[in-house]
Amino acid sequence: MPLVSMRQVLDEAAKGKYGVGAFNVNNMEQIQSIMEAARETKSPVIIQASRGARAYSQDRFLYHLMIAATEVYPEIPTVLHLDHGNSPETCFSAIEMGFTSVMMDGSLMPDGKTPSTFEYNVEATRKVVEAAHAKGVTVEGEIGCLGGIEDGHGTGLDGLSHLTDPGQAVEFVKATGLDALGIAIATSHGAYKFSSKPTGETLKMARLIEIHKRLPDVHLVMHGSSSVPKDLQDIINQYGGKLKPTWGVPVEEIQLGIKNGVRKINVDTDNRLAITGAIRKVFAEKPEEFDPRSYLKPAREAMKKVVALRMTQFGQAGHANDYKPISLETMANRYAAQPVAV
Ligand code: G3H
Ligand code: 13P
Ligand code: ZN
Repeated sequence: MPLVSMRQVLDEAAKGKYGVGAFNVNNMEQIQSIMEAARETKSPVIIQASRGARAYSQDRFLYHLMIAATEVYPEIPTVLHLDHGNSPETCFSAIEMGFTSVMMDGSLMPDGKTPSTFEYNVEATRKVVEAAHAKGVTVEGEIGCLGGIEDGHGTGLDGLSHLTDPGQAVEFVKATGLDALGIAIATSHGAYKFSSKPTGETLKMARLIEIHKRLPDVHLVMHGSSSVPKDLQDIINQYGGKLKPTWGVPVEEIQLGIKNGVRKINVDTDNRLAITGAIRKVFAEKPEEFDPRSYLKPAREAMKKVVALRMTQFGQAGHANDYKPISLETMANRYAAQPVAV
């Protein structure tokens, strides 16, 4: 089965009222972990690559690993999505490469940290929608800015300074014709999101619910959705790591989001923690090992466990074979039949 349209996967998720995890990858082992978890749980898959991941893998390695994934796991509908495209040009190069979905993150300027104007965001996103939809490729946009800075996709603030305004979200969707909308509800990227367990108020769930009420047919995306579980932190610290105490987004809040229009949930950090913990454990317990497979295999297994758990918690488990993939060509024809309102 070729790589599939993210719009189709999210439309199906909306019909079935479940969410789909979007997991970041940089290498073969991470792709294998996700595909194995998908086979085990019978889940559709969204795999996403940041600009950093594309640079790390020289782009083509990652693309061909994804083609290998579709060959080895032909029963799994699999999307390849660009995470946080910083400019229309970055999105165009991903489309050219064969990504079936792109995120134009016009909430920030191309430097990935300076909040942009609403007008800039509309213009950049709309430009990407026009080019992507002509090829049947899905577009995610973002309104409001996330916190965090270490990955270059956040304001560097606490995540509270640029929350999504529901009225602006409505205007943005209408003006751009996008397929999925990333919103800012006080989450941030990375391991250090909250200094104590966040409540629904800390997380601005009421705002999410309000956005869904105003945009009931739009697929919402929750970025910065790692839960940063204590057990994964503990393994790292037990084997010589130095993580400071921290809290992520509780799974029950994500599940409340899924009941209110969230269809795509972005997770990277939890998998990074799982991999690092497993590798540290081998290094600490078997210092004589030097075959990379002796630590990459447990790392792959640890990430697979986290992904399979999230697939079950988000509700996508069991839905891999509910539908037949629609070709990008058919998607392009569908988009052409519904042009964006001016
Ligand atoms: O959005 C952030 C993801 O965790 C990707 O991070 O830019 O370090 O690859 P990265
Ligand atoms: P985490 O850092 O919480 O895993 O967020 C990942 C993300 O939002 C990727 O776009
Ligand atoms: Zn993100």
